[in-house]
Amino acid sequence: MTTQNLAVAADRTLKAKHRAMWALGDYPTVAAEIVPDLGAILVDACRVGPGDRVLDVAAGSGNAAIPAAVAGASVVACDLTPELLAAGQAVAARRGVHLEWQPADAEALPYADGEFDTVLSCVGVMFAPHHRASARELLRVCRPGGTIGLLNWTPEGFIGQLFATMKQYVPPPPPGAQPPPLWGSEEHVRALLDDQVSDVATRRQTLTVDRFADPAGFRDYFKANYGPTAAAYAGLAGDPERVAALDRDLAELARRHDEGTGKTVMRWEYLLVTARKRG
Ligand SMILES: C[S@@+](CC[C@H](N)C(=O)[O-])C[C@H]1O[C@@H](n2cnc3c(N)ncnc32)[C@H](O)[C@@H]1O
Repeated sequence: MTTQNLAVAADRTLKAKHRAMWALGDYPTVAAEIVPDLGAILVDACRVGPGDRVLDVAAGSGNAAIPAAVAGASVVACDLTPELLAAGQAVAARRGVHLEWQPADAEALPYADGEFDTVLSCVGVMFAPHHRASARELLRVCRPGGTIGLLNWTPEGFIGQLFATMKQYVPPPPPGAQPPPLWGSEEHVRALLDDQVSDVATRRQTLTVDRFADPAGFRDYFKANYGPTAAAYAGLAGDPERVAALDRDLAELARRHDEGTGKTVMRWEYLLVTARKRG
């Protein structure tokens, strides 16, 4: 096998692993119960309106794609994980919202140059492992003068710290794969979008999460429903001591971020980015 063929095969294996990870648990429920506000926040920030042609990259079950379609845009929701697209398609059908659902890798989008007025991603493209490749694709499929909109968890915020905690319990990523929360750093995103955009606006904001009775409630919910957390536990099966240590660390993480009295209230920080593709 040539070096190039080996690289292609390794990438295919990595993406298959990521696809299986996001299909674990029940991400559509997390999107519906924990982060449903984020999609609409991103769609509003991008000023999506009637007639716009919008691509939601790493759309999952349509957290941003569905509000964009409700705003009157013509929307394509694409994602690596067909199970999540199918869940979104069922939600959209129930609500009578029309959009297209297509499997796609953010690092090799199956769309023409400049095909979309707005290209957005809500806590999505940050999980594709090769940041420069996916940034290049977001820019390529956006028309000159069009909008790029991103909403990414920050490294310092709660979900960034969740990944930092889980890192000690999962196998190291393959060489070249970059950590998802880096996309939540202003400097990193500006460097990725580079001189191909103008009018870059970044804002750090927080999502209030108050649906858990206590820190252990957060941990048990994520363990059951959030693919990356479910995958971390699956990899520890047969090692009760490590499972107990991860149990302790995740509850402790939520306790450190808990601002509530009587029930757990957390503020999860994200970076909201909008930019205009240069003409
Ligand atoms: C946290 S979910 C976000 C989904 C949705 N945007 C939302 O706001 O609920 C992350 C998504 O990234 C997708 N994903 C991960 N790697 C990807 C890749 N290389 N290409 C496309 N999608 C990817 C996963 O399948 C998953 O749907």
